[in-house]
Amino acid sequence: MPPPAGKTPAAWPAYIKLLPLLAVLLYLAVISRFPTVTQVKWQAPASVITPGSETHTARTAAQAGGNSSSSNSSSSSNAALLEAAKQPVVIGLQRSGQWPFWQAMHAPQRISDIGVRAKTNMQGPAMDAAHPDWHELNCTCQGVPIDCVFTMNASRFATADGMYIHTPGTREASGIPPRQHPKQIRFAVSLESAAYYNWIDDPHYMCNYESEATYRSCSQVQSTMHHETQHDFVTGTNMVHAPELPYEQKQDGVAYINSNCGSPSGRAKIMAEWVTLPNARVAVHAFGTCSNNKPWPEEQGRKLSKREVFQRYKFCVAMENSISFDYITEKIWDALSSGCVPIYKGSSNILDIMPEPQAVIIYGQGGNASTVAELDALVADIMADRSRYERMLAWKHKPLHQLSPGYQRYHAMLQGGTNECRMCAHIVQRRLSGDFLRAATCLWNQTWLKQAGQVFQNVTCPGDVSAPA
Ligand SMILES: *[C@@H]1O[C@H](CO)[C@@H](O)[C@H](O)[C@H]1NC(C)=O
Ligand SMILES: *[C@@H]1O[C@H](CO)[C@@H](O)[C@H](O)[C@H]1NC(C)=O
Ligand SMILES: *[C@@H]1O[C@H](CO)[C@@H](O)[C@H](O)[C@H]1NC(C)=O
Ligand SMILES: *[C@@H]1O[C@H](CO)[C@@H](O)[C@H](O)[C@H]1NC(C)=O
Ligand SMILES: *[C@@H]1O[C@H](CO)[C@@H](O)[C@H](O)[C@H]1NC(C)=O
Ligand SMILES: *[C@@H]1O[C@H](CO)[C@@H](O)[C@H](O)[C@H]1NC(C)=O
Ligand SMILES: *[C@@H]1O[C@H](CO)[C@@H](O)[C@H](O)[C@H]1NC(C)=O
Repeated sequence: MPPPAGKTPAAWPAYIKLLPLLAVLLYLAVISRFPTVTQVKWQAPASVITPGSETHTARTAAQAGGNSSSSNSSSSSNAALLEAAKQPVVIGLQRSGQWPFWQAMHAPQRISDIGVRAKTNMQGPAMDAAHPDWHELNCTCQGVPIDCVFTMNASRFATADGMYIHTPGTREASGIPPRQHPKQIRFAVSLESAAYYNWIDDPHYMCNYESEATYRSCSQVQSTMHHETQHDFVTGTNMVHAPELPYEQKQDGVAYINSNCGSPSGRAKIMAEWVTLPNARVAVHAFGTCSNNKPWPEEQGRKLSKREVFQRYKFCVAMENSISFDYITEKIWDALSSGCVPIYKGSSNILDIMPEPQAVIIYGQGGNASTVAELDALVADIMADRSRYERMLAWKHKPLHQLSPGYQRYHAMLQGGTNECRMCAHIVQRRLSGDFLRAATCLWNQTWLKQAGQVFQNVTCPGDVSAPA
């Protein structure tokens, strides 16, 4: 999905260009297809924040005081939390070059290649020079509502609590704004892998950030595409647990959709080998441009969505386009939510956040199959054994507490709200703790470095850029 480094920020989210075209169609398709999903609702806020009113938060927070059922803390620390949440949290959007990215990500109607979500937890018209402020709605910190404002009004940067800095578009440290005041938190934001945008692995570059908001689990605010692709903002449901089609309605075979044939993970090559494997036992239907052997399915003249295609197959391919530790994108969740069994290649720790270890077939060294012939045999064996197949999807029907601890943690993280809400909640926590020092972002986290197999580089950040004056 990401273009190679060097493209302009305005050009990189290629998938976003597809959005308006398919939005309405897929919106209807997805919403009507899951009328009765019974998943966990997005955590309701303790109170409503009136759109457009920053001062309103103080009132709602005060009303919640002492009576917030979702915060269980002593009354004194509760009072401190309420105090910390009183003032709006203002986060600046750094550069004009990043605004199109931000706006595309936060358009009222958003769509990924799997479906569409109408993001309703925003207020007001799309951001532009006349409307530079964006209120992310329904944000809370430990159950206490917070007014979470993103602004591209540069006049507010000097006092902003935080700065949102999209690192794929900010390669040079010189492009990172200096800290404007000793309590400002600059977030290094990226949903794209370090394999493409490798400067997030450079400690000299990362010296300029107080907090990290990337896909990496060591982030202060771990950020994912999950809400965008898997959260239905209209019904408030998490699509991952949407029920799958009945066994009989799913085709024997593997659905494969890929039109980025040069991605460095090598997935196109692997799949080309499978599609052309002599005496293959499994049918692989390739709908994308890579190894294409099937036209995109239609029903009554309507092209099906990716989700609808995946739903109709017993297996599907979910291989990352690049391989980095922790880089686990929406692809695997798209597959799991569609109810096909994913064939995965990507982050080595994928099983840590899968609901169950048998929910996915891992391709590659140390995985379930390390050659295409082995993969073909394994998938064919499972396909011939209905109860074995159904055990792989059993997690869909289990309560959360029976699923893996890693999945439960991931799920709990998502319950904290969108990436943006959790950035605001992080600021409130900083206010509470009084700790505005440079965070030990991922490259200073020895535990994570060890897990990721990365070497600690002991650099001294020049001028202690982040120390309070
Ligand atoms: C809030 O809780 C206190 C007890 O902790 C109670 O006396 C008071 O009536 C509650 N207020 C509301 C509005 O529920
Ligand atoms: C609050 O937390 C304490 C200990 O952490 C626990 O004993 C108590 O039951 C909790 N109260 C509520 C209302 O959840
Ligand atoms: C936000 O909260 C309001 C009031 O509780 C609710 O009506 C609305 O549906 C919520 N929006 C989302 C996206 O959860
Ligand atoms: C930008 O922020 C400044 C300072 O808070 C404010 O005076 C101005 O009205 C804002 N501009 C817009 C268009 O909101
Ligand atoms: C370090 O990273 C791990 C994830 O690998 C995380 O659980 C832990 O909280 C991080 N530690 C700090 C101090 O941020
Ligand atoms: C794949 O490997 C994992 C980890 O060893 C294991 O738990 C899982 O059952 C395997 N799945 C299949 C289909 O063999
Ligand atoms: C990093 O280097 C400094 C001095 O250069 C030293 O004091 C510090 O202990 C080192 N930290 C680690 C974790 O090795």
